Amino acid sequence: MKAGHSLPTSTADERDARVLQLYEQLREIEQRLIPTGLHVFGRPSESAERADLLRMVASFDRPEAGTRSLTDLVAEGLGISSSVKKINEELSREICLAERERVAEVVTAAIRLFLESGAEAATLFLERTANVVPDASKPIFALLKSVSENLETNTEIPALLRALRGEYVEPGPGADIVQNPAILPTGRNTHAINPYSVPSAVAFVRGEAVASSLLKRYHEENGRYPQAMALVLWGLDNIKTQGEGVAQALWLLGVRPVRDSLNRATGVAAIPLEELGRPRIDVVMTVSGIFRDLFSPTVQLLDKAVRLVAQLEEPPESNYLRKHVNEQMVRELCDIDEAAVRVFSNAPGNYGTNVNFMVMDSQWESEDTLGDLFVTRKCFAYGRDSKGQPIEGREARLALDRALTRVEATYQNIDTFEIGITDVDHYFEYLGGVSKAVEKRAQSRPSIYLSDSLSRDVKIRSLEETVRLETRAKTLNPKWYEGMLKHGFRGVAEIENHVSNTFGWSATADAVDGWIYTEVAKTFVLDEEMLERLRDLNPHSAHSLVSRLLEANGRGYWEADPSALEKLRDISRSLEDQLEGVA
Ligand code: BEZ
Ligand code: MG
Repeated sequence: MKAGHSLPTSTADERDARVLQLYEQLREIEQRLIPTGLHVFGRPSESAERADLLRMVASFDRPEAGTRSLTDLVAEGLGISSSVKKINEELSREICLAERERVAEVVTAAIRLFLESGAEAATLFLERTANVVPDASKPIFALLKSVSENLETNTEIPALLRALRGEYVEPGPGADIVQNPAILPTGRNTHAINPYSVPSAVAFVRGEAVASSLLKRYHEENGRYPQAMALVLWGLDNIKTQGEGVAQALWLLGVRPVRDSLNRATGVAAIPLEELGRPRIDVVMTVSGIFRDLFSPTVQLLDKAVRLVAQLEEPPESNYLRKHVNEQMVRELCDIDEAAVRVFSNAPGNYGTNVNFMVMDSQWESEDTLGDLFVTRKCFAYGRDSKGQPIEGREARLALDRALTRVEATYQNIDTFEIGITDVDHYFEYLGGVSKAVEKRAQSRPSIYLSDSLSRDVKIRSLEETVRLETRAKTLNPKWYEGMLKHGFRGVAEIENHVSNTFGWSATADAVDGWIYTEVAKTFVLDEEMLERLRDLNPHSAHSLVSRLLEANGRGYWEADPSALEKLRDISRSLEDQLEGVA
């Protein structure tokens, strides 16, 4: 929603729909789980954070722990189950808002009671207030008790000392607390997953929901499906989600994994078109160096899926991948080994796109350079050729150029609430980088989407929507920045990082509204008291933040008010003087 967006006034229904939409957006910002400070090594989490985490943990079905979602149980107990469960956005909008608020209130109160007075009090409260039978709520509180106890203790420092002495450190899975509470206690030797198990059955089910929602959203906006999409796949993300990103790619292609006699996902089978109910999408996968190293069997699986789909005898309008591969083979007189390359990564032994470094150092003139750098770094093909010989990082610049030419939408999954698209520079280097590369090659900016694996319901957001949400929930949220400022020097650096990463989305995707820079300037620089705090704690980061705002204006991403701009320049000069004095 842009500032100054006018309300439709034509009918009462339209007005109600708009108010409901606004309400949904406010709730989304309000309920967004954000880290309100940095993790301090060796220190257990604080109680307010613990309550938020427990509420999130309790809101998912957990078959492995024999528990159901507390939100669903409360909703069912209050007789409003079917409405709360709906994934479909239109339908969920129709749900009586008061009912949803009531469910959220009861869940929050139950968790608070559990933390204050224990499981029995919370169980009784739920039975009395929301008709939740104790048999259903008890296992949830047993799980929350163990999570809560684990969050209260912290053995990270003793574990580090044991590791430094070369002693045994107990292993533990690597994931997000909400996704897999078994990661607790921390301070263990984190291990990944068996790549042959990817995608897990649960990830494959979720993958379908995301792929369908993505295509639905694109269809709503464009009246047709995208012929080709570029996906970013990361290693840590697919460890944490047990391969949701991989599952999404397989669903877009319209194939399912096939497990061998050892239960390893080494094969693929096409999902019949009648079952799929839509065309197969041409999917270009740019995978991180970490993914390539950790998920070598999965790289093979994805390449196998591409080759299978490219060779299915299906009409072009139902199989965009085959259509593109055939067209390229005819037009360029090349073979399938050139035309059906879709899994790309860095050259062997190389990592990253360097787009983030180029942006951070302001070392670029034209934005196209950023997309070209992405292609230079990521144009190495992986998989097998038609004779079954492994392809391990063959330079295939032309193949990537061609594949990106057809892309109409780009997408990346977000795996955790802890790290979002403005927390680190890696999201814009990858998703921004590939989108900028597409823009030049397809001569049209792709639709750029994200979704997170954390919310119970699948929600696809455009990049612009995600930047706004992250800005409101974090960068401009006093709860977030005050949490950061408690960390002094490092906290100011985090605020500056957020501003610079936001700028990264302007540089690679032109996805940042002007009001965002205006509000950042007002909050952190033009507010004298805040500026004093920042420059006392960390004048280096304060200076970088002001410079980044000036760069946003200089590069045409932000039309700033001339008097504000003059002030920013003065402040920048005075910070420079201060830093010179320090040096
Ligand atoms: C990965 O897990 O693949 C990854 C992590 C950080 C930056 C880029 C990629
Ligand atoms: Mg930085």
